[in-house]
Amino acid sequence: MENRQRWDNRMVFVFAAIGSAAGLGNAWRFPYMAASNGGGAFLIPYFIALITAGIPILILEFAIGHKFQAGAPTSLSKIKKCWESIGWWAVAVSFAIVTYYAVIMAWVFNYLWHSISLAWGDAPQNFFLNKVLEISEGPGVLGGFSIPVVIGLVIAWVAVYLTIRNGVKSVGKVVKWTVPLPIIMLGILVIRSLTLPGAVDGLNYYLNPDFSKLLEPTVWASAFGQIFFSLSVAFGVMIAYASYLPKKSDITNNAIITALANCGISFLAGFAVFGTMGYMAAEKGATVAEVAGTGGIGLAFWVYPEAISLLPFGSILFALVFYIMLLTLGIDSFFSLVEGVVAGISDKWSLNKKKTTIGVILVGFIISLLYATKGGLYWLDIVDRYINNWNIIGVALLQAIAIGWVFKSKKIREYINPISDVKLGRWFDVLVMGITPLVLAGILVWNIVQEVIDVINGNLYEGYPLWAIISGGWAVTVVLIIASIILGFTKSKNVVLEKAPKE
Ligand code: PHE
Repeated sequence: MENRQRWDNRMVFVFAAIGSAAGLGNAWRFPYMAASNGGGAFLIPYFIALITAGIPILILEFAIGHKFQAGAPTSLSKIKKCWESIGWWAVAVSFAIVTYYAVIMAWVFNYLWHSISLAWGDAPQNFFLNKVLEISEGPGVLGGFSIPVVIGLVIAWVAVYLTIRNGVKSVGKVVKWTVPLPIIMLGILVIRSLTLPGAVDGLNYYLNPDFSKLLEPTVWASAFGQIFFSLSVAFGVMIAYASYLPKKSDITNNAIITALANCGISFLAGFAVFGTMGYMAAEKGATVAEVAGTGGIGLAFWVYPEAISLLPFGSILFALVFYIMLLTLGIDSFFSLVEGVVAGISDKWSLNKKKTTIGVILVGFIISLLYATKGGLYWLDIVDRYINNWNIIGVALLQAIAIGWVFKSKKIREYINPISDVKLGRWFDVLVMGITPLVLAGILVWNIVQEVIDVINGNLYEGYPLWAIISGGWAVTVVLIIASIILGFTKSKNVVLEKAPKE
């Protein structure tokens, strides 16, 4: 057995965890999520989700990664062999996400290049869809590759390889840059946007509270979904990262710092995005709702570029700042997903980490090519939707049961309290054994019921054909689950680690 690698110090670990958590989800998902789900009122379900599920599950993940010194599958198998499959499900979900996250990074690389000449001109949507993606007419037509995207994809995977090839040592060097840099860039964008005329209207749109929204279950489901995706919990990533912590390491406080930093970045991003939207609306004589679009891909690749082109001065500079921010925000989330998968595989079969890394990257690259086709965007959209609404919530629920009930939340407290600054009381058991699983089960059931209603009414996601939803959504989910079950029940070579070390 090789000796397990270690983070250089506590700061590097916290940086890496924040780097994983703060990603594209903060910059383009959160602001719109808030604006469309009650504005300022959305902060209520969001903080409840953070406190009842986000932070407790992050603590649990840090704790078991640290205790069992292994990636998600092996750590869960130490709780009980039959729970190993849940760890594989988390790893499988990470792998599925990484294959399309890579493509979004590829677009960002393209736009970094296009920023120099503001190549999108005055029709940025057309530029993105027709010039960069050369989008086909529907998911049924893949239509060959978009060459610029394939080139960006190669750059993205090579960057990830270079970052993680020496494990946490090389990751540590990179996160020292990729964590502070986007925060500085974001700061610049916030200041710029708040000093633009019309910014206040944008902020009103972002934060004006609509409390009646709190009565809609979907708003609550969105808040919890956002918290999981954003904190990178239920992906096996945080378990893997914590497994590289030295014996005496704080758990609870590190989890709280990671969570608060992540949510702070999300909240701040909203000011940059909506301040600028307010300005664009004023410039165009339209309402904020009209110019803001629906967020997601559109925000980063056509709405925001358009706003940048309208700036009175420094458009190229602010375009570069924006895409460097997206790049540095996203890249550490990207490699954390790869690291979670690599740790899962190499821990179970005691494989050489470097070779496993190369293997995972090669397979990931090949699969990601699917999304670099001209029809790729449709598939990205469908897979992303079902991964977030079903798989992540499912993993989080089962993981909470495995750690809270099977392993026992009390034992977790007894393990982490002596090494952590913040001490957890009995209330923590009530949270992780009661509230967290109940809420998660409720959301899962709600999402499934909603899906059935939508299918019956022929009201399919984004109007995609049923066959595309079945293959990209349901079938992918089934394949991930079956693969996880099989992996969970294959024999591991790792006899050395069979028994958890006594602390
Ligand atoms: N948390 C990242 C984001 O907000 C995405 C991510 C999910 C990264 C899961 C790693 C694991 O964009």
